Amino acid sequence: SGKWVLMVTAQTPTNIAVIKYWGKRDETLILPVNDSISVTLDPDHLCTTTTVAVSPSFDHDRMWLNAKEISLSGGRFQNCLREIRNRACDFEDKEKGIKIEKKDWEKLHLHIASYNNFPTAAGLASSAAGFACLVFALAKLMNAKEDQSQLSAIARQGSGSACRSLFGGFVKWIMGKDEKGSDSLAVQLADEEHWNDLVIVIAVVSSRQKETSSTSGMRESVETSLLLQHRAKEVVPKRIVQMEEAIKNRDFSSFAQLTCADSNQFHAVCLDTSPPIFYMNDTSHRQFSTNMETCFRIISCVEKWNRSEGSPQVAYTFDAGPNAVLIARNKKVAAQLLQRLLFIFPPSSDTDLNSYVIGDKSILHD
Ligand code: PMV
Repeated sequence: SGKWVLMVTAQTPTNIAVIKYWGKRDETLILPVNDSISVTLDPDHLCTTTTVAVSPSFDHDRMWLNAKEISLSGGRFQNCLREIRNRACDFEDKEKGIKIEKKDWEKLHLHIASYNNFPTAAGLASSAAGFACLVFALAKLMNAKEDQSQLSAIARQGSGSACRSLFGGFVKWIMGKDEKGSDSLAVQLADEEHWNDLVIVIAVVSSRQKETSSTSGMRESVETSLLLQHRAKEVVPKRIVQMEEAIKNRDFSSFAQLTCADSNQFHAVCLDTSPPIFYMNDTSHRQFSTNMETCFRIISCVEKWNRSEGSPQVAYTFDAGPNAVLIARNKKVAAQLLQRLLFIFPPSSDTDLNSYVIGDKSILHD
């Protein structure tokens, strides 16, 4: 009968790259020009919750993001749905009298509801958590037998960085060699307990969405930046080895030095792109100089502090936007870091510190 609905709900945190992915060698399959390494945030902050439902009474696939219906017609959604449907297996719940055979999954339609526990408009990576959660929930619903790494290669086709959110802790996205992308997938380097002294603080510099999408930015960098070629061939392979070693040994000095250097090189590649891309500010807004200055003040605060201590206490990294991700070596340092940030960017007495934008007039912390 058409009376039943089968549902699965999953929750996935976003991840922050410490060795960046920037540049695709295949845009449709989303195959990168270099390996990357990230840390997955803990699930209480910056995460996506997705419920996927299937029922014979649904007549087409539909999706809602933060309670607003969005289109599923884009190639990236379609690729993820197709890949999971291809791997669907027989399902039976005798108690409820539900039986779905492998071949039935193609004809059944889905309803998907996804919710971000952070403002989507805050310019914080949401597609990484979003596609990872969608693929994981669909795989559970359709009884697919693939492991997390195999699922990561599907999430990758939704958004590159999403493949790394299939695991917690420290994760490497191996670029792979296969033209079809079968070996371009994520593996866990260390679990969430391995280095739990670290504290991640996200300083929200601007609440606006980025101006140049990562897709078009990467395309322009691949086409025009010589520094990108050098980075992908000569720099990243060595850094990946060093970063894996730093993570294994919980060596914060190397970890911080590599993280900051890699963020700076990623933004240098953006500047080396023609026309140049400035992700540390948004040029179309009046906050241009404010945000750029805010980013540079955060970098200079961390650099001076690390130098004065003789060894790094905090690492910074910026993605395709002006928000600073700061990684403190422990809780004590994180408390000092918040104090310093609040001293440089004083809030007014009635500011809600949970949603305090420090640049275009917040600090969210993990
Ligand atoms: O997966 P995308 O297309 O959102 O690209 C993410 C690119 C960076 O966030 C800048 C770097 C990274 O490795 O996450």
